[in-house]
Amino acid sequence: MAILPIIEAPDPRLKIKAKPVKAVDDRLRQLLDDMVETMHAAPGIGLAGPQVGSELRILVIDLARDGAPPAPMKFINPEIVWASEETRPWEEGCLSLPEQFAEVERPVEVMVRYLDETGKKQEVHAKELLAVCLQHEMDHLEGILFVDHISALRRNMILRKMTKTKKLKATVSA
Ligand code: NI
Repeated sequence: MAILPIIEAPDPRLKIKAKPVKAVDDRLRQLLDDMVETMHAAPGIGLAGPQVGSELRILVIDLARDGAPPAPMKFINPEIVWASEETRPWEEGCLSLPEQFAEVERPVEVMVRYLDETGKKQEVHAKELLAVCLQHEMDHLEGILFVDHISALRRNMILRKMTKTKKLKATVSA
C-alpha cells in the first residue's frame, strides 16, 4: 500500500473526463487500496481517481466516524440510475480544495449502479451523507469540482485563494 500525492486545484488534471475501467484486475485493486490509504491518511471521507492522477472512473468512500473501525467502500464505473426530485443544500469540502467549504444543493437520494472490486455488478440506494459523497466524487469523474456548483463570484474567490496558497507553498519549499 502507498500514500499517493493528492492533486490540488487549480490543476488541469482535475478537469478531465475519466474513462471507464475495462478490466477489474489486481493492478486496479492495488490502486483502489492505495486510494483508501491516501483518503484515510488525509484524512478525508471520499477520493476519486483524477484526484490522484488516475484517468479511470473509480472512487473510494469511508463514512466511518472518528473512533469507529474503518469501513471503506470502493466504486468502479459508478452511474446514477435514479435521483430523487427532492434536493437539499449540504456543506461540502474537498481534498483537492483544502480548507475550502461551500453549500451545494443536490438530490437527497440517488440510486447508483457500479462494479465492486471483484468486477461484480452492484447497486446502492444512497441517502444523506453517502448520497452527497457519491455525487461529489462522481462529479470528479466528469472534471467537476464542488465549486463549479456555486456562484462564479464565490468560486473565483476560492480559486484565487488556492492559487495564492500554492504559490506560497512553492516558495517555501524552493
Ligand atoms: Ni472532492
